[in-house]
Amino acid sequence: MRLNGVLVCVLLLWAEGSLGDTPANCTFEDLQGTWVFQVSKGGHDKTVNCSAKATGEGTVTVTLEKLSVATDELGNTGFFTLIYNQGFEVVINGYKWFAFFKYTDDSFKVTSLCDQTAPGWVHDVLGHNWACFVGKKVKSVSPRIDYKPVFISRLLQKPYKHNLDFIDAINSIQTSWKAVAYPEHETYTLKELHNRAGGPASRIPMRVRPMPVKADFAKMAAALPAHWDWRNIDGVNFISPVRNQASCGSCYSFATMGMLEARVRILTNNSKTPIFSPQQVVSCSEYSQGCDGGFPYLIGKYVQDFGIVEESCYPYIAKDSPCGVPQNCGRMYTAEYNYVGGFYGGCSEMAMMLELVKNGPIGVAFEVYPDFMNYKEGIYHHTSLADPFNPFELTNHAVLLVGYGRCHKTGQKYWIVKNSWSTGWGEDGYFRIRRGSDECAIESIAVAANPIPKL
Ligand SMILES: *[C@@H]1O[C@H](CO)[C@@H](O)[C@H](O)[C@H]1NC(C)=O
Ligand SMILES: *[C@@H]1O[C@H](CO)[C@@H](O)[C@H](O)[C@H]1NC(C)=O
Ligand SMILES: *[C@@H]1O[C@H](CO)[C@@H](O)[C@H](O)[C@H]1NC(C)=O
Repeated sequence: MRLNGVLVCVLLLWAEGSLGDTPANCTFEDLQGTWVFQVSKGGHDKTVNCSAKATGEGTVTVTLEKLSVATDELGNTGFFTLIYNQGFEVVINGYKWFAFFKYTDDSFKVTSLCDQTAPGWVHDVLGHNWACFVGKKVKSVSPRIDYKPVFISRLLQKPYKHNLDFIDAINSIQTSWKAVAYPEHETYTLKELHNRAGGPASRIPMRVRPMPVKADFAKMAAALPAHWDWRNIDGVNFISPVRNQASCGSCYSFATMGMLEARVRILTNNSKTPIFSPQQVVSCSEYSQGCDGGFPYLIGKYVQDFGIVEESCYPYIAKDSPCGVPQNCGRMYTAEYNYVGGFYGGCSEMAMMLELVKNGPIGVAFEVYPDFMNYKEGIYHHTSLADPFNPFELTNHAVLLVGYGRCHKTGQKYWIVKNSWSTGWGEDGYFRIRRGSDECAIESIAVAANPIPKL
């Protein structure tokens, strides 16, 4: 089932004058409690269409509590995580359960039904047996009903025009980073530029509260090198080339493909250098919304469940299209995927540094303000300046973290991040951004996935 919704890097709000898709907005507190899952008759078919499947063959009851612990009626324990503000995954007794929260949308008002799910998928951890389910929460830890309407303003279809005064203002109030006008931007409408960067403010859930860092964690992090860059480890580059997502909201797919590409290079000492197909995710993944957006966590899951072909098999066309991946192309799979820190909300600067150095680049998401579009070089931080001629809404953009460091002169700490806006943007397609202060929420949600390189 393809849920219409939103997500990291979304944004096609308006399809020809009609109001666009709107998402559920649910919290960790909504998820905590006891859930009954009604399960359909199972089978071996992983292409099962869960939105068409009647459910109700049997039920499973799980209680979700204490950050990430799932328990069943018999006292078996497992794991769960919230997925952004959109859904959840539970792993218990050898089965993985995943569903989006249910919501209703009458064009003017979105109502999140955070105590119910849309039809979801369940399969054993090996991916052999599949079924569908719907969940209903029967007991809350803290009851909450959310009927807050979400109003959406209309985005302009007009072409983007540079505002040189805005760029001058950015460059005059600070010296940490430099802004320029990019000719490519004037080939896009405002809506398309938003699409490149993510969804509007209404789509960004509240920042998750930071976790206290455990003492042993802090000790391990203190032992890390002061500088790390996967593009240059003793002169060797483990990062695949920078690409351009164009005007499709597919950043989540590029960020995840870039992570898998780099991690295959790391695991094989660069003897394998595949480029994976972001278009397969855009066209075929039922766990995401094509050019309207998606979440790197669920692309880690998609690649575990269905595998991913290479770019040469299914090239990028930067738009939604029917899924038509040739049968004869080999697929690579992921062994696992997780939120850095263990579960949604468990992230921290130290957890990100440890995962990055130990296992390779990680997918991160951050809030894109209009000044970021004009970033050319330096260590980015948000300047709070607005461009009066190009009304932008805050968006959420998925990118790939490849390193970190500290500026010699100023002592300012930064992350090194790979974007998917071509090599002509930023520092050869990369940017640096302040580290250690959750700048633009970049330390809130990080995702890791481990590929199984082909033999
Ligand atoms: C799944 O079933 C629904 C409801 O019957 C239908 O609208 C939808 O097109 C189906 N999706 C696929 C991918 O077959
Ligand atoms: C989602 O819910 C949170 C907490 O209730 C709220 O702060 C935030 O503004 C909501 N976002 C949307 C898109 O409604
Ligand atoms: C990895 O590749 C480099 C460069 O080709 C080579 O010098 C090095 O010995 C290799 N490392 C291992 C462990 O094989």
